[in-house]
Amino acid sequence: MNNTQIEKNKNTKEGFKPEILVFCCNWCSYAGADLAGVSRFQYPPNIRIVRVMCSGRVEPVFILDAFQRGIDGVLITGCHIGDCHYISGNEYTRERMKHIKPLLKNLGIDARRFDLHWISASEGKQFAELIRNFTDNIQKLGPSNIPKKLGKIEIICE
Ligand code: FES
Repeated sequence: MNNTQIEKNKNTKEGFKPEILVFCCNWCSYAGADLAGVSRFQYPPNIRIVRVMCSGRVEPVFILDAFQRGIDGVLITGCHIGDCHYISGNEYTRERMKHIKPLLKNLGIDARRFDLHWISASEGKQFAELIRNFTDNIQKLGPSNIPKKLGKIEIICE
């Protein structure tokens, strides 16, 4: 299969393999993802994990940037509330992320392409299940046409 065919398949529902970005905090959810791998819990290989020290490190602009680059779905995972290594980082995440879905909606992006979940270091099975369910949902939504919708917007980080 050549590059043109791959590109064409990505844009059709039949050959669609979602590209999903998963932010994992170092202390809990990344360990949960690792446990899923070590325990051989099966989940789709469509995800790319970005390891951050705390879910609180994920700024909304990271999510918009990912969508603008053609990612089909973005998932943020972190420690359960009360377990954050930095005490309240995930509480900031929770508050900040409440605004993301309405923002995505305003931009014409289906808010189901984004989600936030808490995964502990011992929840490898739950991590695998979360990835399977999220991938299924993105698969049903089909390929993202977000870069076309957003056009060339400039995201400025200060
Ligand atoms: S260290 Fe995991 S959410 Fe803060």
